Amino acid sequence: MTFWNNKTVLITGASSGIGRGLAVEIAARGGRLGLVARRVEVLDEIVYEIRTQNGTAIAVGADVRDANALKHAADRVRAELGPIDVLIANAGIGVTDHAANLDPEKVAEVINVNVLGAVNSVAAVLPEMVERRSGQLVAIASLAGYRGLAKSAAYCASKAALSSFFESLRIDLRHTGVSVTIIYPGFIKTPFTSGRLAKMPYLMELDDGVNKILTAIEKGKKSYAFPWQLATIVRSGLLMPPSLYDWIAERNSFRE
Ligand SMILES: NC(=O)c1ccc[n+]([C@@H]2O[C@H](COP(=O)([O-])OP(=O)(O)OC[C@H]3O[C@@H](n4cnc5c(N)ncnc54)[C@H](OP(=O)(O)O)[C@@H]3O)[C@@H](O)[C@H]2O)c1
Repeated sequence: MTFWNNKTVLITGASSGIGRGLAVEIAARGGRLGLVARRVEVLDEIVYEIRTQNGTAIAVGADVRDANALKHAADRVRAELGPIDVLIANAGIGVTDHAANLDPEKVAEVINVNVLGAVNSVAAVLPEMVERRSGQLVAIASLAGYRGLAKSAAYCASKAALSSFFESLRIDLRHTGVSVTIIYPGFIKTPFTSGRLAKMPYLMELDDGVNKILTAIEKGKKSYAFPWQLATIVRSGLLMPPSLYDWIAERNSFRE
């Protein structure tokens, strides 16, 4: 028996990178997967891959910005796979945006997907979890949510909002049977990071990142930041006065 046996898991952003990696590994560990993303033809390939290894998965095309589509997706997952035990709100996008070229539409898009998309995902599963007094909400935030970074205003703001949102949920949901796990990854090799020329310290292989995330979920951690080297550097940044922090952050841009 593993933690995932007989559990139904809904993952958003399951068509690529971390979401795809989590889906395949959770299925291998015995979980039943509801895979959500916009590219349903890619999800179908992942479902095929999981089923050929005797796993259980269904693909549901949905845009996380659409609250109704998420509700329908969750209904389908419940109808076909049973009550949702774990939500992994993973769908996310990034954008390189120097302040001098600020484009409010791009910022709105990042906030819509990364923050409101996760809110829609939670709204689609939480009432039933509270009713059953059982469930786990997982947010894939980022170490980029701790403080502002160069050329990353929209992304940093979205991840700070996401982690605060889930932290508040965690407090409200104490004693309801529903737990909350916030994951703060550093850099992981996925299509999201693959095009970047900038130096990415402690860049991790996808499998390593996926295993660390799964261990944190299985242990029911309230929050988990990794890799520890980068998490320690980022946390020490929280103690720095703004002038020192700005000086260091300007010299360590992770976006070209
Ligand atoms: N890779 C890293 O270094 C890193 C580090 C820290 C945090 N993260 C976070 O980890 C999460 C996954 O990132 P990744 O690296 O795996 O990126 P990725 O390979 O680009 O995957 C992003 C996923 O999000 C989905 N998505 C994007 N917009 C969507 C929308 N409107 N509706 C539904 N799904 C949508 C994409 O699917 P479709 O295009 O098919 O919709 C895709 O499956 C993100 O939240 C990211 O911020 C990544």
